[in-house]
Amino acid sequence: MLKVNRVCKTFNAGTINEKRALVNVNLHLHPGDFVTIIGGNGAGKSTLMNMIAGVYPIDAGTIVLDGKNISRLSESRRAQYLGRVFQDPMMGTASDMQIVENLAMAKRRGQRRTLAWGVTRAEKEEYAERLKILGLGLESRLTAKVGLLSGGQRQALTLLMATLTDPKLLLLDEHTAALDPKTAAKVLDLTEQIVGERKLTTLMVTHNMNDAIRMGNRLIMMHEGQIIYDVRGAEKKSLTVKDLLQKFEEVAGGELANDRMLLS
Ligand SMILES: Nc1ncnc2c1ncn2[C@@H]1O[C@H](COP(=O)(O)OP(=O)(O)OP(=O)(O)O)[C@@H](O)[C@H]1O
Ligand SMILES: [Mg+2]
Repeated sequence: MLKVNRVCKTFNAGTINEKRALVNVNLHLHPGDFVTIIGGNGAGKSTLMNMIAGVYPIDAGTIVLDGKNISRLSESRRAQYLGRVFQDPMMGTASDMQIVENLAMAKRRGQRRTLAWGVTRAEKEEYAERLKILGLGLESRLTAKVGLLSGGQRQALTLLMATLTDPKLLLLDEHTAALDPKTAAKVLDLTEQIVGERKLTTLMVTHNMNDAIRMGNRLIMMHEGQIIYDVRGAEKKSLTVKDLLQKFEEVAGGELANDRMLLS
């Protein structure tokens, strides 16, 4: 489904601020793979997501999604194949637009702008149905402005929007890190439910090692722009946090340091 082949990215090449963010990264995902990603601060986790989404061009290598080489496509062209949810609940939705307008926008992603903006009754019913799954009562607030929602509600809505058109790949970058623990747990439950039901191929960065072990069918650990550990199936499920920390020390020769991990 996704083939990241020997991808390299260096920021500020040739200056004193040169940073090799991704070094020859190879990652192949099968359809329906749900991969959790952990690693220390600056390991390259977000950069990997950004390279796949086309936020910055890659320096070398290729990215193939569902058999199509997307390496040179613009971010907006790739958006039609991808669903994305970031750490910041304010980023995925438009505050001064209604819930229904946000959903309609997500639904029309990648389509030509000449499309009429009317939202049909059938569409509204579909959105209400989907919103019900969230269990937040948003289905009765279709015309409410998104700016009125809490961070957790917005993040749940962003997740719904990101998965509305069954993306070929869902990218989640610490999407619950800014939420309180209870809300974060709720959004993670929703994530598992939606990904499971729609069999979405998913990459999820998390600073929570328990979540990384518990969720998905595969776990990768990144360090200094490289994938240093890749484990799946029963072996992954049987891991403990202690195993992961040990593994990190073994391969990276130091302690795994991540500010959000320490705060959680
Ligand atoms: N746009 C950019 N310009 C310059 N350097 C960047 C840019 N984006 C990332 N970097 C650098 O690349 C490295 C990898 O950053 P990245 O954001 O991918 O780390 P991360 O694994 O997501 O870390 P964190 O857990 O802190 O989110 C870091 O050294 C970072 O400073
Ligand atoms: Mg990051």
